[in-house]
Amino acid sequence: VTAEKAGFDHFMLKEIHEQPKAYRDTMGSRISQTGDRVELKEVGMSAEQIRGIRNVHIVACGTAFHAGLIGKSVIEKLARIPVEIDVASEYRYRSPIITSDTLAIVVSQSGETADTLAALREAKRCGARVVAITNVVGSSVAREADDVIVTWAGPEIAVASTKAYTSQLIAFYLFGLHLAQTLGTMEAAEIAQTIAALQALPEQVEAILQEKDAIKRIAEDIAGHDNLFFIGRGLDYAVAMEGSLKLKEISYIHSEAYAAGELKHGTLALIEEGIPVIALATQDALFEKTVSNIKEVKARGAHVLGLANEGDHELEKAVDEVFAIPRTLPLLTPALSVIPLQLLAYYASLARGNDVDKPRNLAKSVTVE
Ligand code: G6P
Repeated sequence: VTAEKAGFDHFMLKEIHEQPKAYRDTMGSRISQTGDRVELKEVGMSAEQIRGIRNVHIVACGTAFHAGLIGKSVIEKLARIPVEIDVASEYRYRSPIITSDTLAIVVSQSGETADTLAALREAKRCGARVVAITNVVGSSVAREADDVIVTWAGPEIAVASTKAYTSQLIAFYLFGLHLAQTLGTMEAAEIAQTIAALQALPEQVEAILQEKDAIKRIAEDIAGHDNLFFIGRGLDYAVAMEGSLKLKEISYIHSEAYAAGELKHGTLALIEEGIPVIALATQDALFEKTVSNIKEVKARGAHVLGLANEGDHELEKAVDEVFAIPRTLPLLTPALSVIPLQLLAYYASLARGNDVDKPRNLAKSVTVE
């Protein structure tokens, strides 16, 4: 069994460490030799079909839904197409407006999640084209979609998803660039710059993994608490949601992810002396605003761990501890900022003596609606 885990204590830790490889494999031959274009041959849509897309619907469950939240920002920013996103169990029941100009993107690690599959069928029934982002070649979702972008993360065994999520992010970056190339919504130089930043991510993830002992110490402090908060704005908020889910799934510590600016409209009432708050402040354009929200929780006694880009020394003054991640383009930051949060969940679960790879009540793949 240890051999299966390649010397790691748990599949989750092994899979966290496999992320640099998963990023490289998912990018693989989908980037031109010259590094200035994405080549997503598996997407069979013609340029005319891409130009005809009026709206995108992203549908998924759990961690894949959180990847979809990032995907929405990526597609809107790079390709300037409006994107709606739903959890799959809600999608069909809100009478979504699906037409033949809708592109539906279903995201599923296993490709077998019942709700996601039902959403895919509904989108197809209404005439949408369906792109699947999945980790399992030949899965139900892969078979029924029109186009399949495989995430080459390799088998994921731990119930808490890590490398599948980050590979889904890579797939969204590639697909966003693919759309942008066709639509002409990005300058050639900007495309090349984004590709270069993508290719730098695996080494940056490796650098974060080297710092895992710092996260372990923080996790051991957190393990003694019953409640905590994750806050952030924009993409940081979406990553906060994934960090919070990860922690809940395997440590059983209750946590909430909150849009930092929304705290004062209610949740601030829950902040009391000593409560841990994990504050993500990686988005330069939102940095000052996030720092002022951090000050709001600090003033009420919260113990704040700040997650920031290297060199953002201003945050150090506002928080109790800082964990810094290497700099990348703001849009790509989620592929780095989630790594310390995965490690945090892992070590908190371990400190609490839980079964990390098989948390209570949860299944890897949910095939009932
Ligand atoms: C289950 C798993 C989650 C996963 C979700 C969606 O709840 O425990 O980790 O995110 O299903 O799974 P999928 O295979 O569709 O990505």
